[in-house]
Amino acid sequence: MRTHDRLVLGFLDGWRGLLDDRVRELDLRAVAGLLPRGGTMLGTSRVDPYREQGGVAAVRAAFERHDLAGLIVCGGEGTLAAAARLSADGLPIVGIPKTIDNDVPGTEYSIGYDTAVTTVTHAIDALHSHAESHDRVIVVEVMGRSVGWIAAAAGLAGGADVTVTPESGMCCEDVCERIRGRQARGRDFSIVVVAEGVTFSPDADGRTIEAPVRLDRFGRPIFGGVGELLARELESRLGVETRTVTLGYVQRGGTPTAFDRILATRMGLAAVDLVVQGRFGRMVSVACGAIDSVPLAGVLEGPRQTDAALLQAARVFSG
Ligand code: F6P
Repeated sequence: MRTHDRLVLGFLDGWRGLLDDRVRELDLRAVAGLLPRGGTMLGTSRVDPYREQGGVAAVRAAFERHDLAGLIVCGGEGTLAAAARLSADGLPIVGIPKTIDNDVPGTEYSIGYDTAVTTVTHAIDALHSHAESHDRVIVVEVMGRSVGWIAAAAGLAGGADVTVTPESGMCCEDVCERIRGRQARGRDFSIVVVAEGVTFSPDADGRTIEAPVRLDRFGRPIFGGVGELLARELESRLGVETRTVTLGYVQRGGTPTAFDRILATRMGLAAVDLVVQGRFGRMVSVACGAIDSVPLAGVLEGPRQTDAALLQAARVFSG
């Protein structure tokens, strides 16, 4: 595709595609019909050029081989951190924040977050009817890595009875107390949203719940498991039938919301403008609802903590 009379290429599978030189031309035919599709037509990987032998040299070679005027890197904290380092090393790079976790510093929104929150909200709606008819506690574990953006927003939108985020500092007994309070008001069911990155504070007697830490083959922590541990604990302390739903990868796929489609389109346009203007080392961002850009180096200060006002609002209803 020629944008501002430029040829646009897409590297496959993230940084992997630059290292292996797997590339395709993004002409109009290649991108037609993309708007309503989730996921990525180019593929993705967790590869980091700084962790691969000869990785940085291979990226430089790709720039030379294809005579690249600039590289637009679209991804979350890990991908953008490599982009920031390469940019500091002199390569012409522009970033676009894209992660359901919404934890990239410098932008109010990352592409995918709104879709994930919407998916989780619909799941909570469906689980509400089940919990209510069966008088059960349902623990819903949601993604978000070490921060509670998804849990706080979806807990609020879905009307969760308790929302536990990594920032909430809650202990298991706090959750029990809230459920007992509901029971005292004649509410025999509860929906508890828990973020995958939660570490519970110890109870007064020192007891706590901790999901075991595992690492993937790139050395990144694999989150998950805290929901099931919490459910078992609630069942034994409260004597109420408790079930766990780990929403997992359904949060990362499916049809993007209108908000995300518009955000992605506007961020894409802004990224191309930055390249054309030669304003490299920047990341497209949202500030006070408007499309803007910030220094790419800021991503190294992540992850971005969940907005205090959002946490507070979630707390009023379910925290
Ligand atoms: O970074 C996005 C994210 O969806 C996290 O919320 C989650 O912990 C992680 O990815 C899961 O990634 P993987 O594909 O490595 O299992």
